[in-house]
Amino acid sequence: MPRLWWERPDLCYEDGRLRFAGHDVAMLAKEADGPLYLYSAARVRANIGRVRDALVATGTPFRIYYAMKANRHAPLLTMLAGTGLCGVDICSPGELDHAIACGFRPDRISFTGTGVAPRDLDRLLVHDALTINCDTIGMIRRIGERVPGRAIGIRVNPARGVGYDDSERLTYAGAQTTKFGIYREQWGEALAVARAHDLRITSLHFHVGCGYLDQQLDSWEAAIEAGLSFLADLPDARTVNVGGGLGVPHRASDSPLNLAKWAAALRRHFADRSVEIAVEPGDYLVKDAGMLVLGVTDVERKRDTLFVSVDGGFNLHPEPVFYNLPCEPVACVPRSADSANWQRCTIAGNINEALDLWAKDVAMPPQQENDFIAFLNAGGYGAAMSSHHCMRSHFIEMLLA
Ligand SMILES: Cc1ncc(COP(=O)(O)O)c(C=O)c1O
Repeated sequence: MPRLWWERPDLCYEDGRLRFAGHDVAMLAKEADGPLYLYSAARVRANIGRVRDALVATGTPFRIYYAMKANRHAPLLTMLAGTGLCGVDICSPGELDHAIACGFRPDRISFTGTGVAPRDLDRLLVHDALTINCDTIGMIRRIGERVPGRAIGIRVNPARGVGYDDSERLTYAGAQTTKFGIYREQWGEALAVARAHDLRITSLHFHVGCGYLDQQLDSWEAAIEAGLSFLADLPDARTVNVGGGLGVPHRASDSPLNLAKWAAALRRHFADRSVEIAVEPGDYLVKDAGMLVLGVTDVERKRDTLFVSVDGGFNLHPEPVFYNLPCEPVACVPRSADSANWQRCTIAGNINEALDLWAKDVAMPPQQENDFIAFLNAGGYGAAMSSHHCMRSHFIEMLLA
């Protein structure tokens, strides 16, 4: 069988069967008897290792906070906490409790959230060592009223941003006004409110979009430059958090993010500053370390379309439909290695909504009932974003060693 664009040593066909992290995927799926998320601990560690190596090359002190919104599977978080290689980025009090339960100390946790209610603050402020990045002027004021003199971070919106395939939905700061962070026009007021409560602004934060690859690196660098311009007013700042957003290939035409170039951009902008760099990647650490395996329920031609139906829908992994970030469908035991025998088909989920399609008009080896299809790149924003829609929320998650 020719090597496919997504194959790598820990994810490839061997003797006509898909193997992932040393396991036969179809055998695991058969045992699970229902939708199955598989994650590879080794791949997550390799991904974080690559980010660390790149950050070392910047010559600037750094911290990595894993954005747990991407995947909060407890064994995965516990494994990450145990490596000591990263802290964790959270966005809700529930994530705070979960992070602590999985072994992260508050001084290794950074909160960046939106729509933060007073009751949320009551739970966050219990932990003095927790980094809290404020997303609004109101949030600065509410923290100041509760704990005057506390250290805070401020999330700014540099009005420059990036997103996978230049998607507007994945761009968090840019030409279009977004809900995220404090804009330059609000900056004077934000600083005045912080001063009025003796708050010390020890960290500057900006997360400008998700899924960026090499084509977006120039725009990302422009966003870094714009974000860093806020630093001039922050004499107490020790950390600049440049967010997450590092992308992985989703299509054959994508190439992996060049981390050497990414680190070189950071080096250019941080070389002469006495601050540490923080990054908070989610997807980059977990997305290509996970897959969702679904069983084929029907193979049926309807008019001009061959539908392959599977036993899980977009509610289990909303990202392809929400963000047009496809998950490559891969036959776990292909009936034919010769792509001349492959058939064009549309893969449909089991939710009663017209948009519930995993892939449209893709070439696949011939499928039959009870076969298994693995949807790649499902390790991030899959299980974590799943819903109970149509009461079809059941799935199993397994962290493979
Ligand atoms: C503030 C913040 N940090 C980090 C992330 C992680 O992004 P990604 O998973 O694309 O790296 C997000 C994602 O939305 C975010 O909102």
